[in-house]
Amino acid sequence: MKTRALLMTLLASSSTLLGCGGSDVQTEDQTVGAVSAACSNRKPPPPPPPPTTLREAGARVDRLVGAAVEYGALTNDAAYAALAAQEFDYLTPGNETKWGSLQPSQDVWDFTQADAIFAFAHKHHMKVKGHTLVWHQQLPSWVNDSLTADQLDDALAAHIRKTVRRYMFRAHAWDVVNEAVADDGSGLRDTIFLQKLGSKFIEKAFKRAHNADPFAELYYNDYNTETINPKSDAVLAMVTDLVKHHVPIDGVGFQMHLDATSAPTKDQIKANFARFTKLGLSVNISELDIRVSKIPGSMARKLAFQKEVYNRVAAACVETKHCTAITSWGFTDAYSWIYAMWGPDAPLQFDGTYAKKPAYDGELLGLQDQLVPVPGIISNFVSNPSFESDTAGWDGWGSTLAQTTTAAHQGTKSLLVSNRTADWQGAVYALTGMLQAGFNYTASAWVQLATTDSVSLTAKIVCDGNTQYTPLTSAAGTPGQWLFLSGTLSIPQCTTLGEVDVYVSGAPAGVDLIVDDVFVGDETSSVGANLIANPGFENGAAGWTTWGATLSASTAQAHSGAHSGLVTDRTQTWQGAVYDLTAVILSGQQYSVTAWAMLGSGDAQNVNFTAKISCAGTDSYVQMASTPATSTGWTELTGSLTVPTCSSLTGFLVYLEGPSVGTDLYVDDVTLRQLARTNLIANPGFESGIAGWSTWGASISATTAQAHTGARSALVTSRTGTWQGAVYDLTSSVAMGQGYTASVWALVSGTDPQPVNFTAKITCDGTDSYVQIGTATGNSSTWTEITGTFTVPTCTTLGGVLVYAEGPAVGVDLYVDDATVE
Ligand code: XIL
Repeated sequence: MKTRALLMTLLASSSTLLGCGGSDVQTEDQTVGAVSAACSNRKPPPPPPPPTTLREAGARVDRLVGAAVEYGALTNDAAYAALAAQEFDYLTPGNETKWGSLQPSQDVWDFTQADAIFAFAHKHHMKVKGHTLVWHQQLPSWVNDSLTADQLDDALAAHIRKTVRRYMFRAHAWDVVNEAVADDGSGLRDTIFLQKLGSKFIEKAFKRAHNADPFAELYYNDYNTETINPKSDAVLAMVTDLVKHHVPIDGVGFQMHLDATSAPTKDQIKANFARFTKLGLSVNISELDIRVSKIPGSMARKLAFQKEVYNRVAAACVETKHCTAITSWGFTDAYSWIYAMWGPDAPLQFDGTYAKKPAYDGELLGLQDQLVPVPGIISNFVSNPSFESDTAGWDGWGSTLAQTTTAAHQGTKSLLVSNRTADWQGAVYALTGMLQAGFNYTASAWVQLATTDSVSLTAKIVCDGNTQYTPLTSAAGTPGQWLFLSGTLSIPQCTTLGEVDVYVSGAPAGVDLIVDDVFVGDETSSVGANLIANPGFENGAAGWTTWGATLSASTAQAHSGAHSGLVTDRTQTWQGAVYDLTAVILSGQQYSVTAWAMLGSGDAQNVNFTAKISCAGTDSYVQMASTPATSTGWTELTGSLTVPTCSSLTGFLVYLEGPSVGTDLYVDDVTLRQLARTNLIANPGFESGIAGWSTWGASISATTAQAHTGARSALVTSRTGTWQGAVYDLTSSVAMGQGYTASVWALVSGTDPQPVNFTAKITCDGTDSYVQIGTATGNSSTWTEITGTFTVPTCTTLGGVLVYAEGPAVGVDLYVDDATVE
């Protein structure tokens, strides 16, 4: 920070010396802004072209962009070395400056590999952060309990002095102490250092490092500290104490080994960083990598989410004044410590062949403080799903297709299929070339027929030259009512994937079909329907309210269609357009939101997209997005939110608000969609018992006799009805009108084969119905998976939703494992 202040002074004075336009240095610093303002009579220089490497982007905002590197790869893999030099200006040796690497025996020091990394860095004008002087892992084997306290203290002193002194003028910074705080934040971690030397080992390490090299910046470094949480509280308390006692600490490193599905928001990171920079410390992102394996769906989808997380983390640093460096723990998926720790993944910015991943672009943009939106739901492969303007793209395979206004599931038109001379004729959409072998997709359609005949959604797939017809789902019609057909389209592992069609057919020849709103998309996109039923105010303001202001559908402005929502008579800044989602929102799940806003008059002002959450009697307010909007055009707000896990979620409202009192507010095209779903079955694998599960009259217990995964499964015995099995109650976690994907594994004991079903019992307005989610043939030698989907109907009162695995003959024991409902 001292260096930075000095630089700013120099820049300011050099601008003065050079006169107007003498410096084209881009910085957010106020001082320079003031100097340029004095030169405003001169034409400003054209903006520089966008940066093309991470280090260039970092340099423009005065941030170091770093990576951990490995000696082996750096010396043996020329492409790796070239890429490191091209993209980064800060290196951390991944292992080579750890104590165990440098001093294998008490009298043997080996700096070969560390020296090579410092030399490489010097050659490519990169700085180095040494890592790490005091850590309880990767210690030399001779540093163990047999040392007395004095011996350990002397050894540590010698190690710090010799190592730090060797790299004086070459190490820009050191991680002096790594991971010394307990994971639960209760105090210091129980290590050999704490046991033998007491808590003073920390300040002594900083003082010794400072004595050995007074110029190097000295850091405390730790993980799981990126948000405000008990562990970061403990780190904050510790470094506050160090600062207070004038211990020479310059900053704190936040490792950020993140999982994309639980990564903190930019604001959470910034709020936490602010607590540290307030103490006069620098902060660094020191070991960034972002795991994606838990994101459901295709690799493209995982990488799209990863890009946005890289983006927000980089932006959090750029938006924090004293965040001085962003270092990733590696840079190519060819080498990552993640695999040994967490299994297969793709955590870094370059893939295994050194091609740039979306994550790279996310970081590059983040370094320019340009935010990428949270990826929404992968779009519909059916480009004309709703027949509002024509029937383009659709085929009848011999039947007649026409647009109709007889019925419409949404909008005003749908597709009428008539003159059907065979039961397989219907509405056909070609997806050839759009889907990938080996991937799952969700397909759905709304259908009406005038009879009670069965109608189905089917896929025709030509895989390696063989044509197969795969039924996705079917259901019986109720005359004049819309039927929702939804199924999983699994494309087999073909070498050559040929023609792929989905089609609605199945009713006997002569029966007309009315089809609307067809969807084929990425597997998880089935969960992504817009939960705001009236997003565009096209038919009035139905569903919307305001808190004390006036709300109407207006044709004065429209982002799309002919109308938008207009809020007038605003006497409070928080008054706006309010939408109640209490009935459809799910606790513990993630949502993405978007909306368009425009002001009625005046200069730009922030519009906020806020959620009011009432959980177990307490209201909380979460700002999902906040963006300056103008009165001259529409502005998009995008954000996301994880609904807190709440036993009784009694209210969930979203509202657009924020501009000053008296300013009218237009809103349009508001969406709230569910992102990746998590398993609604909290105890899917019975690893610690049968919590949450029951049985209807039989016996259920967790057993180690069989397991599909892990060590246990559930065993159902004493079955006196075929329908007796393992039952899970989902009543409080499902929502009406939502479709779910479900699966369970089963194994039977006794006579093979046996039918096994996964069934849902749904109580809607006092009536029980039983929906077979899936069925399979089970046996006693191998586990069988039963998968399928079900939709929770829209009722006035949803009495209960239970799922259960059942079906084998009376007396046959049933093992059940790994149940999912998503
Ligand atoms: C890791 C290295 O990357 C691996 O090669 C090694 O086997 C184990 O250590 N936090 C840290 C790093 O501070 O030093 C760790 O590095 C990753 C977690």
